[in-house]
Amino acid sequence: MASTLFPTAPSTAAAPPRSNYTDVVNKFHPPKPGWYEELTAKVLNSATKLYEAEVAPYKSELFSNLKEKAQKILEIGIGTGPNLKYYASNCDVQVVGIDPNQKMEKYARSSAVSAGLPPSNFEFIHAVGEVIPLDDASVDAVVGTLVLCSVKDVSMTLQEMKRVLRPGGMYVFVEHVGAKEGALRFIQKILDPLQQTLADGCHLCRDIESYISEAEFSRVDLNTLSLKKALCLNPYIYGVAYK
Ligand SMILES: C[S@@+](CC[C@H](N)C(=O)[O-])C[C@H]1O[C@@H](n2cnc3c(N)ncnc32)[C@H](O)[C@@H]1O
Repeated sequence: MASTLFPTAPSTAAAPPRSNYTDVVNKFHPPKPGWYEELTAKVLNSATKLYEAEVAPYKSELFSNLKEKAQKILEIGIGTGPNLKYYASNCDVQVVGIDPNQKMEKYARSSAVSAGLPPSNFEFIHAVGEVIPLDDASVDAVVGTLVLCSVKDVSMTLQEMKRVLRPGGMYVFVEHVGAKEGALRFIQKILDPLQQTLADGCHLCRDIESYISEAEFSRVDLNTLSLKKALCLNPYIYGVAYK
């Protein structure tokens, strides 16, 4: 693992010695063929443009919460880095992006450059949200968008986010969640197995709001939203949870 912008000596029982970390990544995100990871990264980079355009006003408002309050930011499941332009244009921020798909790195780095972030202020780590290779209370904010649908263990990921957040730190999120009822719920249930296979483990029906509530943040400001361009990837929740 590369040296990091933030301290990386995990201090909980859950965090393994660094030499075993590849085993941890493989446990929570079993290795896929290189072509599959490349294709996933390429599709994510190009196919989300309509979604990103529609969600942009909500993201602008949401990420303004980080302005002047967060200097060290961890983004989990950073993917191709579509959020960096919202919070990383302040050159003083230091960002670590983690993702188990190494093919995301070049896209995320390019997004960081486009956002105006100096290369020395951005680090990509091949890692999973379930066991974050950073110290307790070492970041001011954790960002996660469209990622709790994809992690293997949602509760473990939320506990890890809380562990690395400093007291009062913010978890900023946007997630698509399962519809509660009706035709959309029915369709999501049918398409869920296919979605998991084609979209690298993404679940359509997760009740992520309940997971966030059970994670016992000190306060959660949560909103819901429906996006026209997102079809059955609806509804969405977005907001800020405070440690
Ligand atoms: C749908 S993409 C979203 C990417 C980006 N956050 C966005 O908003 O476009 C889901 C991302 O989560 C990553 N991912 C999958 N399993 C993960 C895990 N266990 N921990 C962290 N990230 C994971 C995937 O590699 C992928 O980059």
